[in-house]
Amino acid sequence: MNIVPNNNRGEKMKKTIRDYNLHGKKVIIRVDFNVPIKGNIITDDTRIKESLPTINFAIKQGAKIILLSHLGRIKEDNDKKKYSLKIVADKLGEFLNQKVIFINETRGQKLQKAVNDLKNGQVLLIENTRFEDLNGNLESGNDEELGKTWASLGEIFINDAFGTCHRAHASNVGIASYLPNGIGFLVEKELTIMEKTIQNPEKPFAVILGGSKVKDKIGVINNLTEKADYLLIGGAMCFTFLKAQGFEIGRSLLDKDSLDYCLDITTKYPNKIILPVDVICAEDMKSPANVRLINEIKENEMGLDIGPKTIILFEKYINKSNTIIWNGPLGLFEDEKFKTGTKEIARTLANHPGMTIAGGGDTASAIKNMGYTDGFNHISTGGGASLELLEGKVLKGVEIIDEK
Ligand code: 3PG
Repeated sequence: MNIVPNNNRGEKMKKTIRDYNLHGKKVIIRVDFNVPIKGNIITDDTRIKESLPTINFAIKQGAKIILLSHLGRIKEDNDKKKYSLKIVADKLGEFLNQKVIFINETRGQKLQKAVNDLKNGQVLLIENTRFEDLNGNLESGNDEELGKTWASLGEIFINDAFGTCHRAHASNVGIASYLPNGIGFLVEKELTIMEKTIQNPEKPFAVILGGSKVKDKIGVINNLTEKADYLLIGGAMCFTFLKAQGFEIGRSLLDKDSLDYCLDITTKYPNKIILPVDVICAEDMKSPANVRLINEIKENEMGLDIGPKTIILFEKYINKSNTIIWNGPLGLFEDEKFKTGTKEIARTLANHPGMTIAGGGDTASAIKNMGYTDGFNHISTGGGASLELLEGKVLKGVEIIDEK
C-alpha cells in the first residue's frame, strides 16, 4: 500500500509540500489538468479547482511556480491543436486572480528564459507534457533524458497530480528521481481518505460496483470482498454475474472470460455479493425500455440499467452501512431512459449520514451532472488512480516520493 501521512500502520510518511521552505525557490508542481473540453469550453473544471490549495500555498510562500500537466492522449501532430493547455492557463488565471504565464513549448530556450525570469509568487504553465510523446513516447515512456531536462528547470518537485499517480511518466516519476520532492495537498487528501477508509472502515462497509467489464474490477473485488460486508453489483458487469448464476441475459453485455470467476466468487460469498433482482431492458437504444425481473429477460433484449426493485434492495444495504465506496455507474446513465439507477443511488448516497466516497471518471461526472456532488464526503479526482487504490496497489507516482 501507499505510505501516507496519518496512516495508522506505523509506516514511514511521505514528504509533503509543507516539509520545504519554498521561498524564492523554483518549484515544479505536477498537476492533473486533464480536463474535458468541448470547443472552447472546459466542461468540468473540478481538477483545476482541486489544484488551487497547493498552488496558492506555493504562491503565498513566495515560490517561483512551474506547472506541468498532460491533456488527452497525443498520437499525431493534429492532436496538438485540440490539446493545447492554453485554455487551462486562462481558466487557472481567473481562479488565482493573477496572470498565469503560458509557454507553448515543452522545452527549449524560450521556456528556460521564462523560468529564469520568474519572480517570487509568479506561476508559469508549460505546454502539454504529452506533446513529447510525438518524439517516441518520451513522456509516457518515462524517458530519462526528458525527466532530467524538466527537473533541471526547478529545485523542488511536488506531485499533486493524483489522477496520474498510477502512471510512471517522465513528468512525475522521472522528475521526482532528480529533485528533492514531496506530495501536494490534493494527493495527500486523496491518499489519506482512501487509505483510512479502506484500512479502517466504520462497519458495516458496503462497496458498490458498476461499469461494463468484470475483468476491470476483479482487482477491486479481490481486495475488498474480505473487508466489505456487502458488495452491490450493477452496471453492465452484473450481467456476467447473472449469467454465471444461470440466468438468460439476452443480448446484454457478457464478459465471457470472467464467467468462472463470477461463479467462484458468488459461491464463496453468497451473502455478501448482492446482485440485481430486476433490470431495465430494451431491444436497442431507440426502442422502449421495459422493467424485467432477472428471470424474464427476453432473447432479443439487453439490460441497460438496474430496475426499481433493485434500487430499493441496494438502498436497504446502503442505509444499514456506515461506510460506502462507489465505483462505476449502475446503468447507461448518459441516456435519459437508463439513468434512474445511477441517479437514485447517487441521491441516496448524497443524503446518507455515513462516510460516502465515489471514484472513477464516469461515476464522478454522473454525480456532478445530477447535482449531488456536495452530498458526498469525497469524490476522487482520479479514475485509474482511485481504482488502483481500491485494488490495494502501490501508486508509482507516490512510491517514488521521498520519505520523511
Ligand atoms: C485520467 O484522466 O484518468 C488521468 O488524467 C490519467 O489520464 P490517462 O489515462 O490518459 O493517463
